[in-house]
Amino acid sequence: MSSPTLRAVKGMNDILPDEVGRWQHLEQAFRGWFERLGFREVRTPQVEPTSLFVRSIGEATDVVEKEMYSFRHHDEELTLRPEGTAGAARAYIEHQVKEKSPVSRWYYLGPMFRGERPARGRYRQFHQAGCEVYGDPGPVVDAELIDALVGFLQSVGLQGIEVALSSLGGPGARARYRDALVEYFRPHAASLSEDSLRRLETNPLRILDSKDPGDQALVAGAPSIQEQLDGEDRAHFEQLRRHLDALGTPYQIDPRLVRGLDYYTRTLFEIRGNGGELGAQNAVCGGGRYDRMIEELGGRPTPCIGFALGMERLLLATPAVSMPTAPLVFLAPLGERAQSECLLLARELRSRGVEARVEGRGQKLKAVLARASDARASHCVILGEGELDRGLVALKDLRAQSQQELPRAQLVEHLCSQLHLPLPEPRH
Ligand code: HAM
Repeated sequence: MSSPTLRAVKGMNDILPDEVGRWQHLEQAFRGWFERLGFREVRTPQVEPTSLFVRSIGEATDVVEKEMYSFRHHDEELTLRPEGTAGAARAYIEHQVKEKSPVSRWYYLGPMFRGERPARGRYRQFHQAGCEVYGDPGPVVDAELIDALVGFLQSVGLQGIEVALSSLGGPGARARYRDALVEYFRPHAASLSEDSLRRLETNPLRILDSKDPGDQALVAGAPSIQEQLDGEDRAHFEQLRRHLDALGTPYQIDPRLVRGLDYYTRTLFEIRGNGGELGAQNAVCGGGRYDRMIEELGGRPTPCIGFALGMERLLLATPAVSMPTAPLVFLAPLGERAQSECLLLARELRSRGVEARVEGRGQKLKAVLARASDARASHCVILGEGELDRGLVALKDLRAQSQQELPRAQLVEHLCSQLHLPLPEPRH
């Protein structure tokens, strides 16, 4: 019986070497941009205790109810992280970071896992780049973060950037809003989807992000959280808006903006884009303030704000850029003695910043030269027994289609000057 063909898990993608260049470019751009704002990288595990996500993201959310990859290992209930904020907060508490520095700025990059229905821009393993600020109640930092994020997205070529902004207020506003939603939805209970009907009792806010078309029609007429904000929430939001206005950062107030995670308080935002191959999944980035999470997870009260952007969505939306690559030289040894010599030469060339490939498979020179020009190599070093005996190498310039012989000892210097590479530092 033949075994079934092995394939990647549905919704989880391979990223092949041809595509990785664009990922690295974006990752480097992200690191550079946010390190200039004082963010430092944190790396936390991809597996966390399930209870961490239940307690932070919220029990009655789509992510926790339907999308988590959870499993039991020995006696532990574990989950592949569906997002990065909860794990970073757990690490922040566990390592008592607040004791050492009252304000911290962290960023992370890496895979996240949600068992959603796969579509273009929506995957089961996807990658986020995110930032979290701990210990700063805003709203100055809120404006700084949103402005920096818009600047970053522009710098990597995202088109049609729209910032949707809202404030969810503090716990008081949330409780009042909850009541207002129950009052609004209860008379329509018979028309609500099964999930939303259940959430009317457990978590009415989550009805607002229901994807059911019937629910969505009702949601359009639902009361807005803005009406429930107290004086301090309102002042916080207005100051944030004034800072954004002063920075000239465009945004639209979206009073029904809700994001599928329960931990948000006050500032909430989502950034959408268009262009490229980005289709319906146009939310490139989402974030907000979560002033109560650290305390709810057992840490000392710490106001926080952060965001995460979806790398796949950003890549779909932004143009391909041509990546600078190291100059490339092929080495073609003809015979075994020449193979060792070519390995030595390649090592020297690489130490000078050249990508060097030794073709040691004993093929015909013609085939090696064809492959070298396919790979856009600038030169091919040819080393046969004859050249070896005379201490020479043959150097073919693939761009000029010329060939010359030169002493082996001069080869590396000669190539470096041809390729405009800096001369080595003199040794002392
Ligand atoms: P989120 O809105 O759930 O927020 O995800 C942030 C971004 O991750 C989305 O805007 C989207 O670009 C990308 N994303 C989410 N799910 C998928 C998926 N299934 N496939 C592809 N991309 C996806 C968070 O995760 C919060 N932790 C953000 C945050 C950080 N809030 C405060 N700090």
